[in-house]
Amino acid sequence: MTTAIRGKETVSARALMEQLNTDASKLNIWVRTEMNAPSQRAWFADPGGATGAGEMASGRVSANQLKTLPAFWRWKDYGPFLERVSSIASRADVSPIEFADRQSILLTNPGLGGRLQITSTQRCAISVYNPGDVAPAHIHSANASRTILSNKGGYTNVEGERCEAKRGDLILTPNGTWHDHGNDSDTPVIWIDMLDWPLMEYLDIAWVDLEYKGAGTQSNAKIQRTDFTDGYSTRLYGAGGLKPTFVSHQRGWGHNPTPLIHYKGDDVREALHALRGEAGDPYEGIKLQFVNPVTGTPVYATNDYYAQMLRPGEQTNFKRETCNTFVVVMEGTGKTEVGGQTFTWEKNDVLVMPNFLWRRHTNTGKDDAVLYTVSDGALMRNIGQYRAQGKDSGGKIVQLVS
Ligand SMILES: [Fe+2]
Repeated sequence: MTTAIRGKETVSARALMEQLNTDASKLNIWVRTEMNAPSQRAWFADPGGATGAGEMASGRVSANQLKTLPAFWRWKDYGPFLERVSSIASRADVSPIEFADRQSILLTNPGLGGRLQITSTQRCAISVYNPGDVAPAHIHSANASRTILSNKGGYTNVEGERCEAKRGDLILTPNGTWHDHGNDSDTPVIWIDMLDWPLMEYLDIAWVDLEYKGAGTQSNAKIQRTDFTDGYSTRLYGAGGLKPTFVSHQRGWGHNPTPLIHYKGDDVREALHALRGEAGDPYEGIKLQFVNPVTGTPVYATNDYYAQMLRPGEQTNFKRETCNTFVVVMEGTGKTEVGGQTFTWEKNDVLVMPNFLWRRHTNTGKDDAVLYTVSDGALMRNIGQYRAQGKDSGGKIVQLVS
């Protein structure tokens, strides 16, 4: 190596460094040509521009960063795929649930390179179970849930508690709990599975165990015996502010998972409706959080679940958070603006609102709109990274959580 002496002759360092960078890329090396936090948006300094989408840095590495994008799936587009899967399964020589483990579609965020995830931490599958279908008992490290779309929604057995599901129900299967699913009704059922699986993969702690050793009630499938009848956890924990003192709150062998595992859609709807005369939050409307009834904390340390109501004509103020949010439209019609895009939604449509991007909802219909949301805000809070900003009615930025 020769010693460089800065003389009279100067070179274009930027151009030469970029050339060096191009050569280095063949060896999977990046020559530092800019600040090496290229993909992140400055929270306090960057107001997001006119669209709220912010500016991504340029450059070879920056351009290749995977970043969750706003995304939208209409029921009228994805529903037919579930119908077709159900139809194939009903005529199948071998049921797809046997060779594919589930009958489902998985949503892939267009910004994440085809990975099976809708945000940097979340996976979403939408499953269909035909009459008689069974998903055998299993246990895994991911925290999961199902949001029921069908009026009659099959069942999930969690640690021996049989949950008969209906539309609007949220059934939780915390990490470290055995669970099995099925459909005993005479029509196909559809629900949305949400998991923090991509986070577990990133952390190298994703695992699933199918070797259930307990006693089953069906000889042809490994499913759990029903030890607790439908509504057990609701009877124990369904009265707000009252905690039973005669039972253990531990379920499975997770680390203090929420013991309330079945939230009934009818109860959620009733609770929202009872509050619809309140002012609500200018950024969220009437919003309720699904919490662990023993601790009052989010049901999971990662994903945080909510139900919110927007009354006819209600429009929220712009808000942005350092968390990703997945939205399921349970009732109503409206639109969501996020990162400069507008998604016009109706029942069963789903969308992704990525972190950092400004967003607001508008109920454009004549009836109340109800949205269920799942965000990784609990994770962000737990690692000290949750922040939120709003824009007041004059467009001025307000620090909601700094
Ligand atoms: Fe599972």
